[in-house]
Amino acid sequence: MVPPQWRADLREVLITEAQIKRRVAELARAITRDYVGRDPLVVALLTGTLMFLADLLRRLAVPLKLDFIGVSSYREGTISRELVFTKDLRLEVAGRDVLIVDDILDTGRTLKTVRARLEKLKPGSLRTCVLLDKPDRRTEPIEADYVGFVIPDLFVVGYGLDYAERYRNLPFVGVLRSELYQVPPKETGLGPTT
Ligand code: IMP
Ligand code: MG
Repeated sequence: MVPPQWRADLREVLITEAQIKRRVAELARAITRDYVGRDPLVVALLTGTLMFLADLLRRLAVPLKLDFIGVSSYREGTISRELVFTKDLRLEVAGRDVLIVDDILDTGRTLKTVRARLEKLKPGSLRTCVLLDKPDRRTEPIEADYVGFVIPDLFVVGYGLDYAERYRNLPFVGVLRSELYQVPPKETGLGPTT
């Protein structure tokens, strides 16, 4: 059930708060198990990871360091889509066990580009964790090591994810009504999203 105040904007709730909570706890257990004794460097992508990251981090029962990378994807038409780095890392990557955290793996271009940038800094190991995975839209041969939910090809918002910078504050993941964008997301200029 979509809460009344969001009914004009959302078609449905795809993933509820309770489902997110349960799954994030499972992911955190798996990551904790894999990173015991390794003091990982968690590198989160701004801004869409904000809620996922906060919930995941407080359940990771290992010492770690946290840093952020800012990436904006400018979607202009169907062809040109440029990735621009808006914030760079502060912490040393060389030799560290790095875990990249992003909100959603869609075409794979963002994760591929960020991975390549970090590889150059010679981490000891490099893994990736995403809350959502839309495999139907993949154009790059990349998969994440830890995936919260595999979802169909729908444009989703909430729990950090935005449409034109809106809806990040929803506590659940919802499906935006298609009337709210003129053409399907893969065809449109969504503006910079991070
Ligand atoms: P990719 O580079 O195509 O894999 O896209 C990854 C980025 O696009 C994510 O970090 C999001 O910022 C954005 N994105 C992709 N799909 C969605 C969606 O359904 N809702 C909101 N943002 C999305
Ligand atoms: Mg993003």
